[in-house]
Amino acid sequence: MASLVIAVDGTAASGKGTLAKKLAEHYNFAHLDSGKLYRAVALQVLEGGGDPAREEDAVKGVADLRRNAGSFDNPAFIRNARLLSPEVSDAASKVSAFPGVREGLLQFQRDFAANPGFGRKGAVIDGRDIGTVVCPEAAVKLFVDADPEERARRRWLELKGKWLDAPSLPKMPDQATILAEILERDARDRGRAVAPLKPADDAVLLDTSDLDIAAAFKATLDIVEATLKRRPRG
Ligand code: DC
Repeated sequence: MASLVIAVDGTAASGKGTLAKKLAEHYNFAHLDSGKLYRAVALQVLEGGGDPAREEDAVKGVADLRRNAGSFDNPAFIRNARLLSPEVSDAASKVSAFPGVREGLLQFQRDFAANPGFGRKGAVIDGRDIGTVVCPEAAVKLFVDADPEERARRRWLELKGKWLDAPSLPKMPDQATILAEILERDARDRGRAVAPLKPADDAVLLDTSDLDIAAAFKATLDIVEATLKRRPRG
């Protein structure tokens, strides 16, 4: 039986990752945070002394990650707290604009969607282009957004937790810095020529500005259930 794919795209720090994770738990599906792949590539570039805005260095970052991590979903690489730092966020947005980087990560994401493993019947993938490019046939497509100020506040709270757990990280950024970084990243992600950040034509939009996690998840589940009910049974 084909895997059922739920694509959760959206703006930076919109809550799409949290919602995708909760959806995967709810349905016992596999979850992939595709942003982590771009972040892991970016970190390879930075650690190798490369420039994330240079295509050659960015593409080399994909090869380095493949070689050093063995597999793109190696937890030692994608659970590194440094991946959430503003420096890596900015670099991830830069490397992700290059077609060579996107191509290098595409098949892994498609394979993940098609083979969620462990007997699971589907996969939830969050990112920017899952519903438009990676899995255009996804059964359900969500596009999550929220006011930039609210997104900056949430990201700040999230980072605070990570920083408390890992005091050796560089200085914790303040909310204004995070807001500026989020706005810059959204503009770059929207404006790039390949696989830009945008809702698929058949995506359902969800604005979480006024919703806490429980309310946002309820709204998400309602959308998924309604979409699945409308689907022709195959
Ligand atoms: O979801 P995130 O904030 O962790 O993503 C980090 C960057 O990676 C984001 O600014 C753009 C890029 N990205 C992408 O281009 N395509 C994806 N599917 C996921 C992330």
